[in-house]
Amino acid sequence: MILAPMQGLTEVLFRRVYEECFPGAIALAITPFLSLTHNLESARSGIRTSLLDDVLPENNEGSIPIIPQILGKEPNEFITLGNRLYELGYKEINWNMGCPMRKVAAKHRGSGILPYPDEVRAILDKVMPELKPSLSVKVRLGLKEKDEIFRLIPVLNDYPLTSVTVHPRLGRQQYGGHPDLDTFGQVLPLLKAPVIYNGDIVTAADARHIHERFPQVVDLMIGRGVLYNPTLPMEIAGASLTDQRSSLVSHFIRRMMEEINARVPNEETRIHKMKEYWCLFWKSLPISEMQARAVLREEKLTIVEKMICDLLQ
Ligand SMILES: Cc1cc2nc3c(=O)[nH]c(=O)nc-3n(C[C@H](O)[C@H](O)[C@H](O)COP(=O)(O)O)c2cc1C
Repeated sequence: MILAPMQGLTEVLFRRVYEECFPGAIALAITPFLSLTHNLESARSGIRTSLLDDVLPENNEGSIPIIPQILGKEPNEFITLGNRLYELGYKEINWNMGCPMRKVAAKHRGSGILPYPDEVRAILDKVMPELKPSLSVKVRLGLKEKDEIFRLIPVLNDYPLTSVTVHPRLGRQQYGGHPDLDTFGQVLPLLKAPVIYNGDIVTAADARHIHERFPQVVDLMIGRGVLYNPTLPMEIAGASLTDQRSSLVSHFIRRMMEEINARVPNEETRIHKMKEYWCLFWKSLPISEMQARAVLREEKLTIVEKMICDLLQ
């Protein structure tokens, strides 16, 4: 199982606490994207700006092993950052072709590039011969239409990609609606590279369903499901946690709060971070939405922390 990249959530602080609490439960994480336009200078000069912090090996000691993800389409920047990441020790990088944010997609980045297979080919033609790490990609079915993926597949098949992760939604859907499993089933046999499935796996039964319906899928990538239920990867692996589950989850949430307090610089950012995680974490606890929302209304860090601790077992 692979942890999905989630900007602001599955960053190094989360990955380290997760690995500490559930060692080995998640084999690999794709990092939230590093944006090419922001990282070029630091990659070129070797100056370690905070933008590379999330992937620096020294910061990732004790973390889930990672594959850094990049977002952008400028070939020279792609090569510069990719090769800088290789120097840092990463043998594979992942290209984000799925980000649905309008500002991003409007510039033919993320899912915005999916309708333009010729642009993808031009980028890969320039990048692949120069890029030292191997490349995997993460795609949606299209930006606006699912036909887009079918025009893109012959292009992807012309390059030695390590894997293709498919999140079977359109960019314009953002996270609404359901993953389109029928179209995913048509895409799967057409791709030459090993295919990883991503989207809406929130229970062990969901994971089983994907494996049974699509036996060719080599791995699952899970994002929100792990934040809604941190013990999901163990449940998918077959662990029966009935007695321990609530104490494992409570310990994990406590450790996240401790690390946010220890590592996030100012009080305003700390409270914002805690609430950002709390919006997802509370679903793993036997509490009502009303109780969870009460925490979000509080403005003082000490009160937020106390309220969360009181809701833990
Ligand atoms: C808050 C948030 C941030 C995300 N950031 C990224 C990102 O940096 N790179 C990326 O490829 N996908 C990103 N995604 C998409 C997820 O990786 C994943 O494809 C999506 O959440 C569907 O999988 P899930 O249902 O298992 O969560 C993000 C999703 C969310 C909700």
